Amino acid sequence: MTATDRPMRVLALESSCDETACAIVEGCTVLSSVVASQVEVHARFGGVVPELASRHHLDALAPVLRGAVEQAGLRFDELGESLDALAVTDCPGLVGALLVGVQAARGLALATGLPLHGVHHMEGHLFSTLLRRADQGGAEAHELPEHLAVLVSGGHTELVLVRGLGDYTLLGATRDDAAGEAFDKVAKLLGLRYPGGPIIDRLAAEGDPEAVAFPRAMMNKKGNLEFSFAGLKTAVATHIERVGQPDSRQALADVCASFQAAVVDVLVAKACAARRLHDCARIHVVGGVAANRGLRAAFEAAAAREGFTFATAPLAYCGDNAAMIAAAGAARHRRGWLRAVELSSSTSLDDPILAAAAGVGTGATP
Ligand code: KG4
Ligand code: ZN
Repeated sequence: MTATDRPMRVLALESSCDETACAIVEGCTVLSSVVASQVEVHARFGGVVPELASRHHLDALAPVLRGAVEQAGLRFDELGESLDALAVTDCPGLVGALLVGVQAARGLALATGLPLHGVHHMEGHLFSTLLRRADQGGAEAHELPEHLAVLVSGGHTELVLVRGLGDYTLLGATRDDAAGEAFDKVAKLLGLRYPGGPIIDRLAAEGDPEAVAFPRAMMNKKGNLEFSFAGLKTAVATHIERVGQPDSRQALADVCASFQAAVVDVLVAKACAARRLHDCARIHVVGGVAANRGLRAAFEAAAAREGFTFATAPLAYCGDNAAMIAAAGAARHRRGWLRAVELSSSTSLDDPILAAAAGVGTGATP
């Protein structure tokens, strides 16, 4: 077996926001994945405090790295021989937070002599649908199939046409808040803890999605693939001003269910429109919000109705993790597509600089 047709063994670090993560994969098979969440640190501030995030990444990095190496059954002093490459999230994210992972990865690259791939965080999320545990049966996929990706996280809401690794066309994005941000801000308005997404998800399951008629923004123009969630957040605030804070669990669940339905309706309608427009057979939903049960169910129903294939990440890999970064790094390494680490807070997935780097060889392929 040559270096090009076996799955690459890659260790990755991820520290773009409030999760410090390290993982080792072989292709898309996860040998180990360790995530240290800072949710408790930021919860009392109602959102991520960048300076605190950097400091906690510094504390968490070494134990997380050691944990991932041990979990994979590897030895720290033999990483240079037991791995093919390293990968690290270098964009987009909080600069101070990214810096911690990037510098640690640079140090590891120096110590081991392994090549280091800079990976775009959202490219990592694209790979989350392919991840599987080592004890899971079935064939392993290494390549991204052609699909319409719905990227929904705390910082992004994007529709991206994926034709393969490195071939990404941004079709539409949010003009203001990201979907996850809307969940978090509405939760705050309702006096719920950060992050609000999972809490609203749970409450919504007990509520009536038609109890309050919240707006579905930008649905009037056919072919408009942009999103806006700021108005929906204001509509929830106005509702609370008018009728007061929900005074029972049922009333709270009704507001949550109605808000969630408004987000889900827009995401499903626009993703389906984009899929039809570009004649795409698959929709993949990825990012933290992909864990939402209402969203997953609505896409499953749409897939059955319209006859497309729907895929999403296993729940464990919807939120930020390093396994998805490692899988993206493994796919790039297999092709010999090395992009040098370039720390940036706001690079888009279809940035021509990232696409151009697709052609730069690592020596792994001729
Ligand atoms: O991808 P992610 O872990 O981090 C970013 O890259 O932003 O996404 C985090 C976001 C948060 O806004 C969180 O509230 C949201 O994902 N989220 C959810 C759910 N689980 C996490 N939103 C809705 N329903 C969920 N079950
Ligand atoms: Zn993310």
